Amino acid sequence: MLTFIKEPAPSKAPATRVLFVCEDTPLYKDSIKAGLCEKIGQLPEFEAKPDKSYFLMECQELPVKRLIFIGLGKSENFSPEIFRKAAAAAVKAALSAKEEEIGVYLPEILPEKEAFEEAIMEGLILANDRLDTYKKKDEDKKLLKKIGLIAEKATAKQKSLLEKTLALCSATLLARSWVSMPPNEKRPKALAELLSKAAKKEGLQVSIMGKKELEKEKFNCLLAVSQGSTADPAFLVLKYQTSNPKAKTVALVGKAITFDSGGLSLKPPASMKTMKSDMAGAAAVTGLAIACARTKVDFNLVCAIPIAENMPSGSACRPGDIVVSKSGKSVEILNTDAEGRLILADALSWVVENEKPDLMIDVATLTGACMIALGEEIAGCFTQDSALAHAFHAAGQSTWERTWPMPLPEDYEKYLKSDFADISNLSSSTYGGAITAALFLKEFVGETRWAHLDIAGPAYTSKAQAYCPAGGTGFGVRLLYKLLTTLSENLTPTG
Ligand code: BES
Ligand code: ZN
Ligand code: ZN
Repeated sequence: MLTFIKEPAPSKAPATRVLFVCEDTPLYKDSIKAGLCEKIGQLPEFEAKPDKSYFLMECQELPVKRLIFIGLGKSENFSPEIFRKAAAAAVKAALSAKEEEIGVYLPEILPEKEAFEEAIMEGLILANDRLDTYKKKDEDKKLLKKIGLIAEKATAKQKSLLEKTLALCSATLLARSWVSMPPNEKRPKALAELLSKAAKKEGLQVSIMGKKELEKEKFNCLLAVSQGSTADPAFLVLKYQTSNPKAKTVALVGKAITFDSGGLSLKPPASMKTMKSDMAGAAAVTGLAIACARTKVDFNLVCAIPIAENMPSGSACRPGDIVVSKSGKSVEILNTDAEGRLILADALSWVVENEKPDLMIDVATLTGACMIALGEEIAGCFTQDSALAHAFHAAGQSTWERTWPMPLPEDYEKYLKSDFADISNLSSSTYGGAITAALFLKEFVGETRWAHLDIAGPAYTSKAQAYCPAGGTGFGVRLLYKLLTTLSENLTPTG
């Protein structure tokens, strides 16, 4: 869909091309493109401002049907995100002109060439996305069929950058599609099969445990959460192995509640509307595993995905129920809507016991409280490892899947005390719900180097964003990939 193309000979059918225009600096070397950009950049209705575009029909200097100029603003404000958004604006402009194909002139003079080229590629791929399976009208299905990056001779570096970006962004699109899928189509068994099919296609090792095995293995918290549903739970494990015998192992745990009604602690209708997205952690983790397999990263990866549907019924678990988790700790379930931490507890225990990873990260749409703290676009990052917290923050700044470090104060553990069991799944305090949820998880990670990412805010968007339509955002795939590939030489603990 996105490829390098050569400038077609003038005799070939002219097409629509995109040029990026900066307010103050020329970005193209040849005088024709530079001259055009300068001229158009001065038009008062365009001014090369970010979020502005300008169409030029026919032009004597270039063999094109139409030129789309996309504003970038001032060069001092350049960042990868400016380029992602500009590339997305190009896709939107072309779609509004009912185009099916465009050619994009990559800027040639760029201060941070690789980072900005990568951002343009990301914007082009991620913006050309729409969930159209259920729409009948053709009009709603339009996407660009081909996007060409025009280069006389793409360098080896540019080609490998494109290959990596395609691997990652198409994995992000997959994650989005799983999150946006309606909950009637992804009940636990169906989701397990969907994810495992996608993973197998990339050469990942896959195993699925069903209810019987989960009973045998004492995944009692996962079983308790799922018992109100007519659908059985499942536990999916995906593995990627490098050939390097010295490679470290990273474990990722992704929450997969295929629909969170709250159970007997039922959610109000308005809060339930987007609860098909409560498996976004699993979508991110699977997308990441696919990206890692495609690009053959140099560490081993284990993904553990507990899957259940949280429903109220005569067989549902009750507030007050006590279950003995896989780790042996007893848990009093005081709120059945705090189900994410329950299924994650068993999954974390399984990973610690069976895989002994060098690093473990769980990704979950865990708390509304995290959205209150950080809003809809920033994920909460909980870890006691300061180097890991910094690495998360840096990876977020570069991918614009942002995270913010959150505390794990030991004295807050008192809020999780239960009168009858080892721990309660509900905090006795009204406040700090994202923190107490993270502290609950911490009880199940033992000595493993660990981080918890609460993606309740950024996993789903009810309104279309610059390069993401309404629905699942695929948040986490690019972030975790950046994090793990930059950490991979140094996966040893730092404290
Ligand atoms: N899945 C929700 C968290 C959530 C809320 C995700 C909004 C995305 C958007 C989670 O299972 C939940 O219901 N958490 C409760 C916990 C509470 C009962 C302690 C919450 O945040 O209200
Ligand atoms: Zn819930
Ligand atoms: Zn939930």
